[in-house]
Amino acid sequence: METLARRKFLEFLAASPLLAALGPYRLLAAEGATDADLQRLAHLVTAPEDALDVFDLHRVAREVLPTAHYGYLATGTDGNETLRSNRAAFEKVYLRAMRMVDTRQIDTTTELLGQSLGSPIVLAPAGSQRAFHAGGELATARAARERGHLQILSNVSTHGIEEVIEARGEPVWFQLYPTSDWSVARRMLQRAERAGAPVVVLTVDLNSGSNRVLEAYYARKDGRDCEQCHAPGHADWLERKPMYFETGAREEAFSTPGMTWDYLARIRAATGMKLVVKGIVTGEDAAACIAHGADAVYVSNHGGRAEASGWGALDSLPEVVAAVDGRAPVLVDSGFRRGTDIFKALAMGADAVCVGRAYLWGLAAFGQAGVARALELLQAELTLVMGQMGTPTLADIGSRHIGRH
Ligand SMILES: Cc1cc2nc3c(=O)[nH]c(=O)nc-3n(C[C@H](O)[C@H](O)[C@H](O)COP(=O)(O)O)c2cc1C
Repeated sequence: METLARRKFLEFLAASPLLAALGPYRLLAAEGATDADLQRLAHLVTAPEDALDVFDLHRVAREVLPTAHYGYLATGTDGNETLRSNRAAFEKVYLRAMRMVDTRQIDTTTELLGQSLGSPIVLAPAGSQRAFHAGGELATARAARERGHLQILSNVSTHGIEEVIEARGEPVWFQLYPTSDWSVARRMLQRAERAGAPVVVLTVDLNSGSNRVLEAYYARKDGRDCEQCHAPGHADWLERKPMYFETGAREEAFSTPGMTWDYLARIRAATGMKLVVKGIVTGEDAAACIAHGADAVYVSNHGGRAEASGWGALDSLPEVVAAVDGRAPVLVDSGFRRGTDIFKALAMGADAVCVGRAYLWGLAAFGQAGVARALELLQAELTLVMGQMGTPTLADIGSRHIGRH
């Protein structure tokens, strides 16, 4: 880029909301932006409504986030094997369109565990959302309210469940990392139930930890002084999470390698909330969930952040659906970025599809408006593909609408 064009471009950016969002961290604020940097930034959208798909939001998120925080958002385990398999799984399934159906009215309403939903698209639980935007989980909740989607709140959130429910305007579901100290888990369950959460989602795919090597690389690359915001060595990270306040939790209790199926009975005895088990990838475990009293099974590999299995979540969905055999609803997440992805899972028998990074990209890029735009895009894409496939309601979607390469 020659000098005049470069100056013009910097003037344009100075007038756009993007520059403010870039904050002190990134390239533009530094005098040293290279031509390659500027060319890349020229393709970013500067307002949420300009995003054509959720990947437009991703590109902005990558620029505005501190390097370490982007690493937390973006990476999976080992060399991202499972993350890639999640996306590759969608390519193996194609859509079979049925023509000449009256699709003037597309209806995406559904019912899940006794709750009426306007859409089967649900916000998956994600921790530490203030690492992505100052509004954190409250911005997410306001967007979920604006667009009418169910939100699942992580128990390592940066806002407590009471204020999230207030921002959402109706109860959210509560996701629990149990901790190996039962009294900590029990206190959190009681608090969530008191706040009005109707469902607890027990996450079982990190019991033995995960190898987040790429996240550590990003953190190493980040030149900022992390201790300005985090305690030295991040020693107090659990204590800083509002859901752990006054539970007496110690960090070492976060690891739960001893957790087995009898934990479900403990939860059932401790709370009246319905119980969903998140992180299931096999038919055997899906059957065990039902046998141990789960109300729903949630297929997930944590967005490629649990084990480096190299097995896409969509590929593990059919055996779970077969094992559950209609006895309980099946939710799924990991890798969903487009309406066609969501449609494929619904055609395979999922009752709801949760999204993680797709809305977190929106949060990082533009706060509440970015989350709302991500949800608007996904909902519009799902509505479009339902029309194309000749399926005016979710009940019309079935296995005849997909095939395998
Ligand atoms: C930044 C980030 C934080 C997450 N935090 C949690 C969490 O606290 N609890 C949980 O059960 N899952 C957590 N997950 C996993 C999500 O619930 C979900 O399974 C995953 O994001 C789905 O994959 P996707 O991001 O490809 O949509 C997190 C995922 C991301 C990307």
